[in-house]
Amino acid sequence: MTDPQLVLAERVQQALATAFGQEYAAEDPLIRPSQFADYQANVAMSLAKRLRRAPRDVAQEIAANLDLPGTVEVSGPGFLNLRFHDTWIAAEAGALLTDDRLGVARELPSKTVVVDYSAPNAAKEMHVGHLRTTVVGDALVRVQEHLGNRVVRQNHLGDWGTPFGMLIEHLLDIGEEAAVAQLEAGNGNDYYQAARAKFDADAEFNRRARARVVTLQAEDPETMRLWRIFMDATVRYFNKVYTQLGVTLTDDDIAGESMYNHALAQVCDELQERGIAEISDGALCVFPPGFTGREGAPLPFMIRKSDGGYGYATTDMATMRYRVQDLKADRLLYVIGVTQSLHMQMLFASAKMAGWLPDHVSAEHVQIGSVLGSDGKMFKTRAGKSIKLLELLDEAETRAAAVLADREYDEATRTEIAHAVGMGAVKYADLSVSHDSEYVFDFDRMLALTGNTGPYLQYATARIRSIFRRGEYDPAASYGPIVITHPAERALALELLGFAPVVAEVGARNEPHRLCAYLFDLASAFTTFFENCPVLKADSEEERQSRLALSQLTLRVLLQGLDLLGITAPERM
Ligand code: ARG
Repeated sequence: MTDPQLVLAERVQQALATAFGQEYAAEDPLIRPSQFADYQANVAMSLAKRLRRAPRDVAQEIAANLDLPGTVEVSGPGFLNLRFHDTWIAAEAGALLTDDRLGVARELPSKTVVVDYSAPNAAKEMHVGHLRTTVVGDALVRVQEHLGNRVVRQNHLGDWGTPFGMLIEHLLDIGEEAAVAQLEAGNGNDYYQAARAKFDADAEFNRRARARVVTLQAEDPETMRLWRIFMDATVRYFNKVYTQLGVTLTDDDIAGESMYNHALAQVCDELQERGIAEISDGALCVFPPGFTGREGAPLPFMIRKSDGGYGYATTDMATMRYRVQDLKADRLLYVIGVTQSLHMQMLFASAKMAGWLPDHVSAEHVQIGSVLGSDGKMFKTRAGKSIKLLELLDEAETRAAAVLADREYDEATRTEIAHAVGMGAVKYADLSVSHDSEYVFDFDRMLALTGNTGPYLQYATARIRSIFRRGEYDPAASYGPIVITHPAERALALELLGFAPVVAEVGARNEPHRLCAYLFDLASAFTTFFENCPVLKADSEEERQSRLALSQLTLRVLLQGLDLLGITAPERM
């Protein structure tokens, strides 16, 4: 409910209006975290010129008019050092104890947010890049839903196109059963390679594959039946990965390329008739303004090739129209690799030209950075082959079990904890780095129990739970009131107030790494608190109640935060 920075901003603005006139009421007070206080306001320096007065003078005058639940001090050339009263912090944190939303407000009015994420391609191995768009997209989806928005997930599978001619013919060659077994097991890559080899070397197979593309395009029932068999087996493999990861995607969210088949001719015709697209070298192209290639030549966004075929761009124009007009999106998030950024920009610009992306809808490319191996190149296995995702996830769990080897658990508990920790580690590694940055995939680092890792945060929750267990307190009972007697309590309580603002920010900016950084800071503040402020051995019942309340709130915020990231926390670790 109460974002400390917002409280300060409002109060400083009121002081500005009183001191210098109403026209300063909307001035940015430039509130920043401070080493010398809770926050500082830097607005006096920026205003001084305009007011033709010394910055320190301006600061004094703001301070004199400032009505704060705390204290203000002018320092240096004109900084306002702002510090909350302990009682204010205690009361605000105390209010969270009875608030199941932990201060997080619902967005009003609520929006429809369409999120395109995961989107692996059939018959090619789902790789770590897809893993990252899956993990980041799923976190964004969870945050949007928590903010009260209506979310429509769109898994834009690569499930159509000319390669399906040879893929279907290969299915006929090896038999449905063998094909299904191979695809379900996640060997789509081998399957593709085998089909490709025949396509290149065997003229008769090549002829059949081409003919099959024609019957596929014509949606001949037998061809469609074979295509279905192929796709269903492939999707079963994707679902294994989703289940193991615990992502929220289901079959209902599949909206693959094939879904737009019937719209493509119409998309092209309409754009051509309206003069938005034109024929260039036989191809139908949109030339969105501002995009130029070599020697300043306008860059085409090609929606129909010169042979009459449609492509990735055509389908994406159709996704735009569908998501805005039929799904009624207010926001469109495309969680897709950073390497596709030119495609996305040209798509947005072309859709704007077509009037399919009105100004009140915001289209956002959430750029996903590459995942690298220790050699700095795209992450592959040692043999240079692509990594099988399921094997990678299994390895994460095996290694997590090894990290926890000295704990005395029965086998079932160990497996359960290792699953949570392994998946938590992999997901957190994807999420804690700004989504458009590359990072190096490194099991040892992501599984470390210290530092900004998933396991560290999971461990922090287990540690708080163990305090309650040891004292035989119910972590769900009510404790308090919160009373601040030690700086570490104060710091922890103030940190707890930061949860709601950070969740809102992640929703607005599509940046889960901010939530990770916040949770890490919170866990660190808890550690300092715990080292300095005995909970079970507190000096008085009042102090114990307050510290139990702070511990409980920290646990709730950590669990809620991890849940928004799609990470579960085992009870013990
Ligand atoms: N299948 C594509 C790929 O693997 C990603 C699709 C993303 N979504 C979209 N609407 N273009 O690169």
